Amino acid sequence: MRSVKVEKVVFGGKGLAHFPNGQAIFIPKVLPGEEVDIEILKRKKDYVEAWPREIVTQSQDRGKAECPYFEVCGGCSFQNVSYEKQMEYKEGFLKDSLVRIGKFDEAEVMKKMKPSLPSPHPLHYRNKTEFSFQRDEDGRLKVGFHNPRKRFHILDIDACLLHSETAQKALESVRKLAEKCDLDVFSPRTPKQEGNPKGFLYSIIFRTNHQDDILIALNTNESDFPEDEKNRWIDWFQKDLGKQFIGFVQIRKNRQEITSPESFELLWGAETFEDQVLDLKFKIGPKSFFQVNREMATKMIEIVQKEVRNRSQKGSILDFFCGNGFLGMSVASLAQQVTGIEIEPSAVREGRLNLELNGVTNYTFHEGNAHVILRELLEQGETFDTLIVDPPRSGLGRKACKTVLKTQADTIIYISCNPTSLAHDLTHLTSEYEIESFQMLDLFPQTYHLETVCILTHQKK
Ligand SMILES: C[S@@+](CC[C@H](N)C(=O)[O-])C[C@H]1O[C@@H](n2cnc3c(N)ncnc32)[C@H](O)[C@@H]1O
Repeated sequence: MRSVKVEKVVFGGKGLAHFPNGQAIFIPKVLPGEEVDIEILKRKKDYVEAWPREIVTQSQDRGKAECPYFEVCGGCSFQNVSYEKQMEYKEGFLKDSLVRIGKFDEAEVMKKMKPSLPSPHPLHYRNKTEFSFQRDEDGRLKVGFHNPRKRFHILDIDACLLHSETAQKALESVRKLAEKCDLDVFSPRTPKQEGNPKGFLYSIIFRTNHQDDILIALNTNESDFPEDEKNRWIDWFQKDLGKQFIGFVQIRKNRQEITSPESFELLWGAETFEDQVLDLKFKIGPKSFFQVNREMATKMIEIVQKEVRNRSQKGSILDFFCGNGFLGMSVASLAQQVTGIEIEPSAVREGRLNLELNGVTNYTFHEGNAHVILRELLEQGETFDTLIVDPPRSGLGRKACKTVLKTQADTIIYISCNPTSLAHDLTHLTSEYEIESFQMLDLFPQTYHLETVCILTHQKK
């Protein structure tokens, strides 16, 4: 066991320390300034991953996590500090990335930083959670999250403080059910064990909407859900969840063939339900991509609407990486035309239904790779006044940045869920755009994740 001093916490939620030879050590659940005895979990070429065995000197910022699983669970990074401190850390991650990776001047960055927006509810904000099943060697059933210390092991969890009251009731219900029922639980094999993983139940997804209604989906192998068991599960959920229980779906997938397609089967009730953000309605299923923190997604929409209102008068908007059109649809009434580009066919399918549901007639979806489709649209002579850019964690990348630059749009509203890729992309985009502002939004309290809205304006020559 070795003792090290934590210098700071970094994006990824871990504390950073160094061995005397300069090698970096990443340690979860520790705070800046703390001296920690560590156990080394993994040695990589340039750094090591460690686990805190004992906090030798505690930070004054350290508090008691509300969740009894915090110290062992991989879900939350920061329940051991106040919410204000979490916001301070996240602002630090953003500033650090822009200065260290983007090489932007720190004073300039700070001048352009708008006040961050915290989540009104730092707990119980998630509208979707997924719990895995496992039966361990002595036959005990586990329902929970993956154990961050032991690959292939599930950490048994009775309660999660991030999801809603109804989802919590459903979790309690499922635990009792899975213990009683005759369904086989999937038991993944570690590399040392022989044979393929087997068993019927993989995991369960809870999705709740603005009324805290709940859709439940069971991820299983390809077998049929036995009829008597199916009825037992439905009766049980109806008894425990009452009217809030809206639908029950089976999602079949062959885990031994990674690429096997999933097939959905409605077991009871509805396959989708409606969720609402401001005056927009969305029909979503258990696996649809939808912002998990509804209150903060509302704030995000309000920022995008304000920016669009301030700029192009009924111009043409590109909703780049549009998902189901969540952001673009919110500004359709302020635009002449909105064009959405998205790679995931199911998101586009759901998006088109959402257009109908909201009576939006000036939004067109294109399915495919974002920068390829955009290049084709530009070649066909399409022009855009404003770009809403909301890429996945990997960011735009050099190629897509180049295509974005070709649009010569007046304004880019870049929404980023990863300050590291944002910083990289900005190094390309600032060749022709000026950064007007940054604003951090906390959609994921207790975790290290953060969202940034960056506004860029074209420097017309
Ligand atoms: C952060 S989400 C944003 C979704 C949407 N703007 C929203 O707020 O719901 C990123 C989206 O990019 C899509 N995506 C990922 N890679 C893509 C690519 N190469 N081309 C187009 N879309 C892509 C994902 O499927 C996902 O829907």
